[in-house]
Amino acid sequence: MQTTRRTLLQMLGALGLGSTVQAAGCSDDAPATGGDAGLGGDAGGDAGLGSDAGDAAMASDVPPEPTTLFRHGVASGDPTPEAVIVWTRVTALAGARLDPTVEVRYEVARDTAFTMMVTSGAFNTTAERDYTVKVDLTGLSPATTYYYRFRALGMVSPVGRTRTAPRGEVAQVRLGVVSCSSMGHGYFHVYRSLARRLDLDAIVHLGDYIYEYGTRQYGGVREYDPPTEITTLSDYRRRYAHYRRDPDLQALHQQTPFIVTWDDHESADNSYSEGAENHTPSTEGAWSARKAAAIQAHREWMPIREHETPGRIWRKLAYGDLVDLILLDTRLWGRPLQVNNADAGLTDPARQLLGADQEQWFFQEVSTSRARWKVVAQQVMMGQLVQLLNSDQWDGYPAARQRFFSLLRAMMVQNVVVLTGDIHTSWAIELTETPQDSMSYDPATGRGALAVEFVYPGVTSPGFPQVIANTVLPQVMRESRHVKFVDLVRRGYGILDITPTRLQSALYLHVDGETARPSPTDAAFATAWSVAHNSAHLVQDQAAAPAPSAVPPAAPTP
Ligand SMILES: [Fe+2]
Repeated sequence: MQTTRRTLLQMLGALGLGSTVQAAGCSDDAPATGGDAGLGGDAGGDAGLGSDAGDAAMASDVPPEPTTLFRHGVASGDPTPEAVIVWTRVTALAGARLDPTVEVRYEVARDTAFTMMVTSGAFNTTAERDYTVKVDLTGLSPATTYYYRFRALGMVSPVGRTRTAPRGEVAQVRLGVVSCSSMGHGYFHVYRSLARRLDLDAIVHLGDYIYEYGTRQYGGVREYDPPTEITTLSDYRRRYAHYRRDPDLQALHQQTPFIVTWDDHESADNSYSEGAENHTPSTEGAWSARKAAAIQAHREWMPIREHETPGRIWRKLAYGDLVDLILLDTRLWGRPLQVNNADAGLTDPARQLLGADQEQWFFQEVSTSRARWKVVAQQVMMGQLVQLLNSDQWDGYPAARQRFFSLLRAMMVQNVVVLTGDIHTSWAIELTETPQDSMSYDPATGRGALAVEFVYPGVTSPGFPQVIANTVLPQVMRESRHVKFVDLVRRGYGILDITPTRLQSALYLHVDGETARPSPTDAAFATAWSVAHNSAHLVQDQAAAPAPSAVPPAAPTP
């Protein structure tokens, strides 16, 4: 979702706060895209651009034309106890052309110097897959850190660092959680901060890894390649390539495996299975073709294990007996059009968000999981926004949410934790069918709560301007007994620290918008919320859980 001035006004209008926005200097005549002026912590969007905007910023941001084939770095992802995906791409040097097929060799070792070799092999990449390389390394040992690199045409890639999932009895899992990295809105200080942490098993990216807009259509700090909105396969590939030239994103991919899902902007704003708010068939062609292009580029460029059906990214990854990480696709698989009123089918008891097949799989996984924690990584907010309808969230698919809640209640499923991105704000929520009913739900004890939800902030994508947040926040908290924490302004990331006795989500937030380079500071610890085993009650902690004292060495910086 893009929080345009128009959508913000719709939301605030529903809260009876429209006049506040007008008073804060917004008008309601924003275009459907590019309407972010006046929104976000980056002080006035396009109008507030500093000297770091425009061509100068781009020129200093993208590294000079590299003399290596491996200019998009390395990446890894989707770890299991015996396998992990490793990724790179080869690019022709200036003035040269690649053959139709390029053999890329890979090497895997237990140490950064590659003296303890584990395996090696070769992968033939081609133009048909945009010269991306993806190898599913198998036969590995559980809970083990590996280093990997690639060679082609006499050149060697940077060294990547990755880690397999544990098996059996597991005492602790630590995951970084991120979403929503609009390059137009600034620099990826969050990714840089996370790259310096070497204590994480994986990064969970909840989507909006790329944005589809052209330069200055949504955020005016950095320009995009290509400069126009992306709609074709070539466009989507170029946009991923542009993101992967970012040194901060490259650094994070180099050090830690990613577990990704997509949100709407990997295709187009507020997408659903048959279209998108930001897609106009009359001028941009058939949605099916654009969706297929977006899916193909994602499959080529992301370190995700590929299902035989392109576009099927819902899957489960296990961390021993401690965590089943269930990843959903609430966007492109089974979601019908967002609607605002009952006449259009909002309250249809058959209404789907996941689609029947994914929903059946999800319910099966969550109700039969034997892991201590069932962590559900997905896109859009599940908790109810009282007196407010954002039809793009689970609020717009109430029957689907009720079926999930009914399943948890009927099967007495405990220890379910929902992770959400999409809306560039931070929330901690106790999930219950009836948040306003004190007979069935008590926020002081969590009685009647079924699960908890953590909504994570944007890496760069903007939330609300401070002046509006100051007015909205008290009203949200007053009317939402199930909401324990909200931050509507700051960017940042989360750390999930999971043990058999409790799961903690710690938030690290920036005070300001991330429009400047170099970064003034890392995101700082802001708050932490925990849920205990066999409870769905959120409790605030004073500090983040400590990282393990011994961590495997970083992959050397190229
Ligand atoms: Fe987003």
